Amino acid sequence: MNNQLDKSIALPNREFLEDVLEGLSQDQKRLAPKYFYDAHGSALFDRICNLQEYYPTRTEVSVLQDRSKEIAQLVDGRHLIEFGSGSSTKIRILLDAADGLASYVPVDISRDHLFAAAKTIEMDYPDLDVVPVCADFTRSFELPDVVDEGDKAGFFPGSTIGNFSRPEAKNFLSMAADMLGDGGSLVIGVDLKKDPEILNAAYNDSQGVTAEFNLNLLTRINRELGANFKIDSFEHNALYNADKGRVEMHLVSTLDQNVTVNGQDFQFAHDETIHTENSHKYDIDEFHHMGRDAGFTPQHTWTDPNDLFSVHYLRVAA
Ligand code: AVI
Repeated sequence: MNNQLDKSIALPNREFLEDVLEGLSQDQKRLAPKYFYDAHGSALFDRICNLQEYYPTRTEVSVLQDRSKEIAQLVDGRHLIEFGSGSSTKIRILLDAADGLASYVPVDISRDHLFAAAKTIEMDYPDLDVVPVCADFTRSFELPDVVDEGDKAGFFPGSTIGNFSRPEAKNFLSMAADMLGDGGSLVIGVDLKKDPEILNAAYNDSQGVTAEFNLNLLTRINRELGANFKIDSFEHNALYNADKGRVEMHLVSTLDQNVTVNGQDFQFAHDETIHTENSHKYDIDEFHHMGRDAGFTPQHTWTDPNDLFSVHYLRVAA
């Protein structure tokens, strides 16, 4: 397929293009959710996090705040490695409550964002050793030498693990257990199974921000890959799939149409969808089971009073 690609499209857009062409060639067309997050998509996601219907962010923050002392004691003195650190916002709850960490290692693929956020943390916590690592945390990556001495703790908030398939989630946890090593531990936020009405409202908000976030993916493909999606002939749809324990987001074609991406034509039937995201929800037992399979021993689980969201503390099994 590589030979057919427009060579004027530079890396990393070549990888984006390859993924889009491959995804749209499947019987069930799909696009990877990691491509939601261009500058506009990231701003829309920040707006989603503040929506009344989108309970995960504020609920997780309330659990972290309520338990901050307890969690901080568990990670104190360790090297704290944050997977997918973004703006390094939630980590502040732990940094404020901890007496002293060996270092803070934010890991993110978006270089500019990572270094800007690390600078801000350095300024706000002058005694903290901040060592940013630019890497795709979903694959194995090198940790900086500074963490060789001493115990490590991982931090993976936001239920980002829910956007992985269940096998991918288990693989990620196994990789994290290897990386955190003997004596290591992981603090991880996981969204819980619940009344589908709450889930459907959270992913179909009344202001249409999630719809804009989903459709922005097509705008991005038009802009960066020279495609010709007619944005107003696609609609956002999100629905909880109880059999698979996940919210699925789709973009639905509202008519029979043809779309061209990099010279390749893709046919869309009326009501045909592009599957853009899965957001898996877990029971506590189910998540503990996965953690054990991946080499962790679950030690603590904290939830909010309505059991909407869970934060787990897992130790690497001896
Ligand atoms: C980033 N991730 C955990 C969000 C979620 O809830 O799965 C992404 C999202 N998609 C729609 N709304 C939020």
